[in-house]
Amino acid sequence: MSTSASKSSAIRDPHAHDGGFNAMPEGEFEGKKVYIETYGCQMNLADSELMGGILAEDGFDSADAFEEADVILINTCAVRESAEERVFGRLSQLLQYKHDDPDLVLGVTGCMAENLREKIVDQAPYVDLVVGPDAYRRLPELVKQCMRENADPVIDVKLDQDEVYEGFSPKRKDGVGGWVSIQRGCDKFCTFCIVPFTRGRERAVPPSDVMRQCRNLAERDYKKVTLLGQTVNSYYHDETDTSFARLLDQIADIDGIERIRFTSPYPVDFTPELIDTIARRDEVCNYVHLPVQSASNDVLERMRRGYTIEEYEDLVERMRAKIPDIALSTDIIVGFPGETEEDFRETVDLMERIRFDFAYMFKYSEREKTYAEREMEDDIPDEVKGERLTQIIELQEEISREVCESRIGTVEEVLVEGESKRDPDDLSGRTDDFKNTVFPKPDDDSVEAGDFVDIEVHDCTSHTLLGEVVSS
Ligand code: SAH
Ligand code: F3S
Repeated sequence: MSTSASKSSAIRDPHAHDGGFNAMPEGEFEGKKVYIETYGCQMNLADSELMGGILAEDGFDSADAFEEADVILINTCAVRESAEERVFGRLSQLLQYKHDDPDLVLGVTGCMAENLREKIVDQAPYVDLVVGPDAYRRLPELVKQCMRENADPVIDVKLDQDEVYEGFSPKRKDGVGGWVSIQRGCDKFCTFCIVPFTRGRERAVPPSDVMRQCRNLAERDYKKVTLLGQTVNSYYHDETDTSFARLLDQIADIDGIERIRFTSPYPVDFTPELIDTIARRDEVCNYVHLPVQSASNDVLERMRRGYTIEEYEDLVERMRAKIPDIALSTDIIVGFPGETEEDFRETVDLMERIRFDFAYMFKYSEREKTYAEREMEDDIPDEVKGERLTQIIELQEEISREVCESRIGTVEEVLVEGESKRDPDDLSGRTDDFKNTVFPKPDDDSVEAGDFVDIEVHDCTSHTLLGEVVSS
């Protein structure tokens, strides 16, 4: 294993290996410890668990801290430039550990691996392994290859249209909720977004495999499942004619699964059947994350989102008519190429009209390969993007606080997730509509993670309900 940044940037094809793997006995790797650090979306967190599961099948253990690890994998995000910068910063910190432990294998996985393999090998030549999102089933062999050989970085970033990791079991933390990826890739090609380039085309995990994973969660006493996909409600499995709404119904029938969430649906593919399923099934939570991105029809068209703002608002109205207490959140991008003050105003007005429970808000970040990068000028000055972002963050804070304040005095059913991060004397959990709720641990320790408790809300912050147990 190379000990320094002196590796050449030549790229080897792991598929072309000559069989030299047999030089070392298999047991050599038993119990080697892997630490996976995750950046980005929930899909990436789920992929990290998938990688953990794939490596565990080959005898690798997981490390609780990177200092204990024989292998460190950084599972990366490429959606915005800032995410990439953080990863490069992190890699240079980890270089020090490679100096101390020459045998340490340092790998980069995920969307940046797919997108930036040359740049990674150039800027961080001490990286041993670069593995894209469709190559995780080969991870054990690739890691072993790095451990055996002191050579060039091992790179496997082949996109594979058929890869859905059927039959694998993610290595999950024991807990209350688990992620299940039901779809990989994305076919929408929004003009700002890199995901279709890093994760390939959309494909569905067969319902039988989704059900296997959900049943497995129920057997292990998990109460909640979160279904993941880039456009999760576009899910359709041809061979079994299974729509997303039908899949939800099947999962809701599993004994022990008491809450089902999903993220993120695509507005255009939100069918009346799906609204009906959310309304009809208690198990499907009354909370939907519905990315809008902008409220200007000009901007939406240039983003190629496929809907007008009138259509989006009509969808919200139909949802609220059928499910009056539904909570909504969204994603918003400010400073997309050509966004005028008037366009931006329309977004502010929309936020005031809809009153989302919360929102993820971003400055537009130009991404290589995307249509916007090729065909549009990133013409909104960073300063203007920053001002617009601050303005909507402040507005949303106010709205979120008011939404939370309206719950003071109510009694909410909360699924307890564990100790509060801020205070070990408190517990925290979520309401059905995804409100984080914090309350003191009852003295008799009668409440624990996985319990449903009634909480009377007596105060709040802008994102958290504060209360106490009134029954359990
Ligand atoms: N469909 C995915 C979206 C992935 S990206 C999902 O399940 O959430 C998450 C969010 O990042 C997008 O909704 C968008 O608001 C934001 N985003 C994507 N590309 C971006 C870019 N180039 N600049 C700024 N924000 C971006
Ligand atoms: Fe990206 Fe649009 Fe798909 S935001 S993930 S291309 S739906």
